[in-house]
Parts: sequence; structure tokens; C-alpha cells
Amino acid sequence: MSKYYKLGAGTIVKAVDKVSLEIADGEFVIMVGRSGSGKTTLLSLIGGLTKPTSGTIMIDGKDLWSLDDREQSRIRAEKIGFIFQIPSLITTMNVMDNVRLPTMFPNHRENVGREVVQLLELVGLSDKVGAHPSQLSVGQQKRVAMARALINHPEILLADEPTSDLDKATEGEMMSLLRKIHHGSVRTIVMVTHNLDLAKFGTKVYRMTNGLIERVESEDLRSTDLIGEPTT
Ligand SMILES: Nc1ncnc2c1ncn2[C@@H]1O[C@H](COP(=O)(O)OP(=O)(O)O)[C@@H](O)[C@H]1O
Ligand SMILES: [Mg+2]
Repeated sequence: MSKYYKLGAGTIVKAVDKVSLEIADGEFVIMVGRSGSGKTTLLSLIGGLTKPTSGTIMIDGKDLWSLDDREQSRIRAEKIGFIFQIPSLITTMNVMDNVRLPTMFPNHRENVGREVVQLLELVGLSDKVGAHPSQLSVGQQKRVAMARALINHPEILLADEPTSDLDKATEGEMMSLLRKIHHGSVRTIVMVTHNLDLAKFGTKVYRMTNGLIERVESEDLRSTDLIGEPTT
């Protein structure tokens, strides 16, 4: 699949360029690449948030973009949890309501309060149920976003730079949490990051460069592969 963006004056950005990728059930896939290499675009393609310019995305044997809108939304809502690079919590809602939000679509699910509390326990925020996003640190906001991504019991969790903007200790906590989730409720995780040190957590590791991916062994990754990496 490919995703090309047309800019003005006939310029085309090949954000994802003819990538062919199969993700098996049970994997913890980590893709590393510098800023601008196409990680967010690829993750959005995998999650069905972006329509490919060409190619197909198959989820459980179904070609996502050939399904009707309702069926597409159902797959996104039921199978896929997405942790965005920026937590994008609703600032006017408290933690409970933010985490509960995905249970409103496509069919309203009742009595999720207890599940929300359990997830907040899992991510270590049981004392923040009533807090508002502005009262939380970035790391805590990311963990709320993680709880929100898990509330519909997804089979696949897609995480876009879940550790960016975190200090080393908090980064480690976030990776332990992802590992715990992978061994627990979520079968498959795809995480993208610009941080080479995190590759070791993956059961499969890919390097992304200018819209292309290649499989690598995490121990073969060298810091020189990602020279000039900005911190975003
Ligand atoms: N909506 C868009 N319109 C135009 N260009 C885009 C858009 N989104 C991403 N790009 C470009 O596609 C490339 C890959 O971006 P992105 O997937 O965000 O990379 P990463 O997440 O690795 O930083 C970059 O050159 C970026 O500028
Ligand atoms: Mg990105």
C-alpha cells in the first residue's frame, strides 16, 4: 500500500511507498524511524484512519476500504485501539468520561464505569478518575489515552510514539505497561517510535526510511541509522 500527498506545484510526498507488510496475531511490532519517515502515516493506514492512495489493507481477511461505512466503523471501533502521538483528551471532560468516550459508538454500552476504574488501575491512575486533563502530567495523559484505547477491548493496539515527551523513568514504565497489556488483554501491538532503544521490546522490528520499511534485528540497529533525529 502507498500513501502519497500532493503538495502544491506538482510536488508529491511519498509518505508510505509501496509497503507490503503482514502482521500476525500475537506480535508486538516495533517500527523505528526518524521524524518524517512515514511512521504516523503507516500507522493510520494500518488502523484504517487514512485511505491508501493505492493498495489494500486487509484485517482478518477483509479488505477494509471495500466495506461499507458502517462495517468499516464497526471494525475500527471493535478491533482497533489507537494511541495517538498527542493524547488529544477532551479538556472539558474528566478522566472517567474521556476513557468512557469510545463506548458511546457505534452502539452505546451501559455500565462501563467499573471497567474504566479497572483500566485506570492497570495504568496506575486510579486516584485520577475525577481529574481533568489539565491537572495531569504528559505521562499521565498518555496513560489515560492508553486506557481510552483499551476500553472497547481491541484485538490490535496501535501506538504512535507512546513514550515521546517522557523522561527515562516514565518511558520505562510506559514500556512495561505495553508489555503487560501485550501479555494480557491485547493480542497484537504495533508501535512506532524514533527511539532505537525501544526496539528490543519488539517481537519483530522494522526500520522505516522515507516511506519504505525493512525488517531488522533489534541488535543490528545502530544510532547512525537515525542520525540527526529530532526529539519529536
Ligand atoms: N496530511 C499531510 N499532507 C501532506 N504531507 C503530509 C501529511 N501528513 C504527513 N505528510 C508528510 O509525509 C511524510 C511522513 O510524515 P509522517 O507519517 O507524519 O512521519 P513520522 O510520523 O515518521 O514523523 C512527511 O514528509 C510529512 O511531511
Ligand atoms: Mg509521527
